[in-house]
Amino acid sequence: MPNNNMPNNAVNMQRNITRLGVLISGSGSNLQAIIDNSEAGQLPAKVAVVISNKEDAYGLERAKKHGIPNIALRRKDYPDESSYNNAILKILKDHSVDLVIMAGYMRLLGKEVLDAYPNRVMNIHPALLPSFPGAHGIKDALAYGVKVTGVTVHFANEVFDEGPIILQEAVPVFEGDTEDTLAERIHAVEHVIYPHAIKLYCEGKLEIRGRKVVIKE
Ligand code: GRF
Repeated sequence: MPNNNMPNNAVNMQRNITRLGVLISGSGSNLQAIIDNSEAGQLPAKVAVVISNKEDAYGLERAKKHGIPNIALRRKDYPDESSYNNAILKILKDHSVDLVIMAGYMRLLGKEVLDAYPNRVMNIHPALLPSFPGAHGIKDALAYGVKVTGVTVHFANEVFDEGPIILQEAVPVFEGDTEDTLAERIHAVEHVIYPHAIKLYCEGKLEIRGRKVVIKE
């Protein structure tokens, strides 16, 4: 006898899984943390596609190992920023992506994608924003001599490292730290708080009020 609950449950389960499109440029250790959390059932999300602007990004290999569709899109193969970003958008749409995750994507994401995913693009930055934005957050904090730096997860907007902040966590800077030792501690924090921020989003617990993100418990 057919179980009438089954099809509905199956549909609901499908609906409760947020489909992530992850944008990378390099190693992809944050991507790995997200994949691991997803596969372990800690995150009601799955990585639907990985897009890299660099063909040799190790993150593409990580995606392959997990059977995740992965695509390298080189900016130089497109005549302008707009067509490049439209190509990214098409891939995201083709994979029915709900939430865009920038994980070490070292380019500004175009208006084309941001407009198509309002308040649905996240970024992670290896410093406590608004301090030390840009491509060298760890190096710049160390050179400045701060005693505390950290990690920021935020919604992305059209300005680099500027959108509403979702989560931040402090990381102490020790005397004798090098860029490598500090980076190691920062990355360890990133790998915990990025999946956590994504989970909050998936559970509908993030509400944006102007510049502020309220976490509803
Ligand atoms: C991370 O430190 C992230 O904060 C920054 O780029 C780095 C990416 O590392 N935006 P990975 O590629 O995830 O290992």
